[in-house]
Amino acid sequence: MTANELRQAYIEFFKSHGHARIQSAPLVPENDPTCLFTTAGMHPLVPFLIGEKHPAGKRLVNVQKCLRTGDIDEVGDPFHLTFFEMLGNWSLGDYFKKEAITLSFQFLTERLGFAKERIKVTCFAGDADCPRDTEAAGIWMSLGIPEANICYLGKKDNWWGPAGQTGPCGPDTEMFVPLDRADCGSECGPACGCGKWVEIWNDVFMQYNKTAEGKYELLAQPNVDTGMGVERVTAFMQGKRSAYETELFAGIFAKIAELSGNADPIASRSGRIVAEHMRASTFLIADGVKPGNVDQGYVLRRLIRRAIREARQLGIQGMFTTKIADVVIAEYGTVYPEVAASAAVIREELGREEEKFAETLEHGIKEFARLIGRIPPHIANKVISGKNAFFLYETYGFPLELTTEMAKEQGFKVDEAGFQEAYKKHQELSRAGAEQKFKGGLADSSEKTAALHSATHLLHAALRQVLGGHVAQAGSNITAERLRFDFSHGDKMTPEQIAQVEAIVNEAIKKDMPITCEETTVEAAKAAGAIGLFGEKYGELVKVYTMGDASKEICGGPHAERTGQLGPFKIQKEESSSRGVRRIKAVLG
Ligand code: SER
Repeated sequence: MTANELRQAYIEFFKSHGHARIQSAPLVPENDPTCLFTTAGMHPLVPFLIGEKHPAGKRLVNVQKCLRTGDIDEVGDPFHLTFFEMLGNWSLGDYFKKEAITLSFQFLTERLGFAKERIKVTCFAGDADCPRDTEAAGIWMSLGIPEANICYLGKKDNWWGPAGQTGPCGPDTEMFVPLDRADCGSECGPACGCGKWVEIWNDVFMQYNKTAEGKYELLAQPNVDTGMGVERVTAFMQGKRSAYETELFAGIFAKIAELSGNADPIASRSGRIVAEHMRASTFLIADGVKPGNVDQGYVLRRLIRRAIREARQLGIQGMFTTKIADVVIAEYGTVYPEVAASAAVIREELGREEEKFAETLEHGIKEFARLIGRIPPHIANKVISGKNAFFLYETYGFPLELTTEMAKEQGFKVDEAGFQEAYKKHQELSRAGAEQKFKGGLADSSEKTAALHSATHLLHAALRQVLGGHVAQAGSNITAERLRFDFSHGDKMTPEQIAQVEAIVNEAIKKDMPITCEETTVEAAKAAGAIGLFGEKYGELVKVYTMGDASKEICGGPHAERTGQLGPFKIQKEESSSRGVRRIKAVLG
């Protein structure tokens, strides 16, 4: 079964069971300040899991683009990926355990062809927060999964969420299928850790909301959230060791082989890094991320530069990133039209970053010469310290191997252990930084964030009025304290323009206009003059929020009820976000 057949089979199956297909949300979460990237299919659905009505209904299905950076340093082994696709089906307060498990069972046995004897499952063992899930186990047994193939595990294994520190979560039941090899012993199963049993699907019974105080409150509606990794299941279905060996990467590796002269780049760590990072980078740029020094832009820069460094190790000469991106665009453009539509931007950004990095490397070579020059020629023990080798790595992107090679030419050695030590220390620091970002939990839909979200709509409309109709949202990020809005516009705003925009927004707030929401088709919304980034993300029906005569915008919500609830609006900062994109930070009250 190909990945495409898998995607189609999944979508068709759930559609035939009353699910509406929704489009993949972008890789950069909208209105979620605490996560840099969309990490699971449920992530963009959080408002709907906690009670907001979804315009497409209560049963949803999709293929969601996801990016997880936690294992970025692991990429290069045969298994880890940063970017991946996740199949998911959801019940928003509709069906619960019985139907979810039955649907999963049917898809696995009828569509993917697994004999029920080849499926093992795990269920939540129970703890002080939530009872043992004998109900889920009972449902599996009623479908013919023998009790011996069901095991109970604790929170670490059989609980999912919240994606951040707070938000919807719950016990889950996970499905495993065996690799074609002998059991490790009589107890071989999902819990034994020998690797024979591969987790391919997860049904989460999202019935709790974890609060900031760490309490688990029952949600008003019990939901189902499921996730099945396209890459992993495709590899499994084809009897392959990993996604790298499937058609998902075949074209990319063929191009890498052609460019490098290495006949088998899949077998090489560098080859896998180039393939994985170039695929992820292409998708990130398609979703509006540009290489930069902070947040998503920094992650993208790291991916591109690591790919370039590894490409050199592999023997690729000259500019190459756009050549690989072209393969990604050609192979994924039909499944993800935004990738095809952004082809020009993808090439431009990659080309620019590659040039920039080449310059940096050149500076690094000069810095290297300076470092060497500082060591007196008569010293016998010619060593470049670990600290300096790490400095070259961190600032100029010099892989240790490159520094070692250049050092050797000059009769120097490199303190490799010292380098590893400095590298590890840095990793710990950046990991701590990343964890900080995730600490706040998912965007809470408190009144404050709802008010700031409404203010964002007013700001968007006012910017279009003052600067022109070319202004469109390029990104939005809301915390309980402030809003941050990125929009397309070439020039720095003048103080007069900023004052004018503030005045228009404050005028709309003063008028205390009702904020109303209606569901309509994308076409009708556009015809009524609604603006918004969301395209047809939500399928046929979309929500349109109207704020009196001030704003009409397609959006998932939630919002304040009246503009008067917003309080005085103040722009704190207007700055460049990236080329052609400006960024405004603003507060209320
Ligand atoms: N959110 C769950 C996961 O990522 C199920 O989709 O596994």
